[in-house]
Amino acid sequence: MTDQVIGRKPAHATIEYFDDQHPPLGDFMRDVVDGLSATPRSIPPVYFYDQAGSALFDQITELPEYYVTRTELDLLESISDELSLRAGPGAVVIEPGSGSSVKIRTLLDALGDAAAYVGLDISKQHLVEACEELARDYPDVAIGAVCANFTTGLKLDHLPLPEGRRLVFFPGSTIGNFEPAEARAVLAGFRTGMRKGDAVLIGADRVKDEQILVDAYDDAAGVTAAFNLNLLKRIRAELGAQLNTDDFAHKSIWNRDLERIEMHLVAKRDTSIELNGERYVFEAGDSLHTENSHKFTPESFATLAKDAGYTLVKHWSDPAELFSLYWLEPKWEA
Ligand code: AVJ
Repeated sequence: MTDQVIGRKPAHATIEYFDDQHPPLGDFMRDVVDGLSATPRSIPPVYFYDQAGSALFDQITELPEYYVTRTELDLLESISDELSLRAGPGAVVIEPGSGSSVKIRTLLDALGDAAAYVGLDISKQHLVEACEELARDYPDVAIGAVCANFTTGLKLDHLPLPEGRRLVFFPGSTIGNFEPAEARAVLAGFRTGMRKGDAVLIGADRVKDEQILVDAYDDAAGVTAAFNLNLLKRIRAELGAQLNTDDFAHKSIWNRDLERIEMHLVAKRDTSIELNGERYVFEAGDSLHTENSHKFTPESFATLAKDAGYTLVKHWSDPAELFSLYWLEPKWEA
């Protein structure tokens, strides 16, 4: 075999462009101080993902209890023919929060003839490495990287994108990390990078048996506990806090009313966190809320999509109905 085929477009072995939109970086100290000063106490889950936290998350995705990642991947594979038909030839895949996921490969394989891919992430180094690797493995796809915060809309107008259908790919149930109003805003923000005929393919975890949910966030091997407690280690190492990680226990709770799993760090005994000249006292049983992972029914997801300005065109689930993928198209005023 040769890749010097006459009439075939040239192979891209590297990324076509890197567009730095200079997203404002989160202020870790300010967010932790604000979160410890608030009632109830909480810290945004974005801070889980330092190097150690990202490695622990990768381990989570392989846990027997954490069905989320493998179920979504199997589902993507099982509907690949239909995805390819819906997307049509020459699609432009845009992935907000791309990271280093294997899911994009499954999608590109399913489509078979995507023209371009735009990885979009706030972490520059991670993004460029992942996109370079993708460019090597998918020489027929024009790969670009955009360093940006996807929660404030997609700025794509100045990018050299081919004309095909844009498909915004947002897997992993990342949408579940946002409060309902934020989730609507994030989805509505995607529309700023879309035109008529474009679509969003989004994965969202489902409401299900409480024990399955609680166990998925409190595994027997203790990896999720380590992931949660790593946040305290980060606060100690990077912000110079004085705290004892042994004084806190990982807890996963199903909040039935709000249809979400909550992760907390609960004080096992009276203790405190000293940070930036303040002492934050925890009595035994007091909680620091570290993550929400909202779960959806097809009905509640349809409502979210509609409120964000989309029509839910189609959804797919695995046979056990653990996880769903949704195909959304923007509603346009006539
Ligand atoms: C990356 C937000 C989708 O909510 O399932 C996994 C994060 N936290 N285990 C999720 C997570 C604990 C994950 N998301």
